[in-house]
Amino acid sequence: MGRPRIERRHGAHRRAFWGAACAAAIFAAPGLHRATAGTLPGIGRRETAGDSLGVNKAEYQGWKTYHTYCDRCHGGDAMGSTMAPNLRRSVGPEGSITHDVFLQRVTDGVADKGMPAWKGVLSPEQMEAIWAYVRARSGGRLAPGRPHLASGAKTDSGS
Ligand code: HEC
Repeated sequence: MGRPRIERRHGAHRRAFWGAACAAAIFAAPGLHRATAGTLPGIGRRETAGDSLGVNKAEYQGWKTYHTYCDRCHGGDAMGSTMAPNLRRSVGPEGSITHDVFLQRVTDGVADKGMPAWKGVLSPEQMEAIWAYVRARSGGRLAPGRPHLASGAKTDSGS
């Protein structure tokens, strides 16, 4: 709003002054976009692509399904609990749960250890979506909290 456009500069300027100006421009530019998005009516939450709660459709569905069926044991935000393992670790580099093993565990459960079988309750698509959500959480790209569809993952700016 009346603020001068800040030009991005790349490469050519070697002196420290221009280095600092360059960094400032790079950090300021997304901030300006975000400020603009924040002025849209009816949007309480940032809608900017690339923020840490922005997800694609599969991840969003996965979050909803996880929230309904899994978090009472595996913990809110897939953080783990005293009842069940931290799935972020299970599917990450330190864990042993590959994509195929994940689907098998979710489908068949681990009856003698208290992990229910979800076959007949969840569709294969829902299981894949939970995988996508847990992987996004595991990699650290998705912050804890309620995610929202990133702009570009939907066709309009409505609800
Ligand atoms: C009633 C509690 C409970 C619920 C609800 C539950 N789980 Fe589990 N889950 C467990 C327990 C306990 C284990 C550990 C089993 C073992 O020791 O092998 C487990 C293990 C797993 C594993 C293997 C992790 C590992 O590192 O061995 C995956 C994957 C998993 N659960 C996914 C899910 C998903 C996805 C949901 C929701 C659809 C879900 N679970 C719901 C209790 C639960």
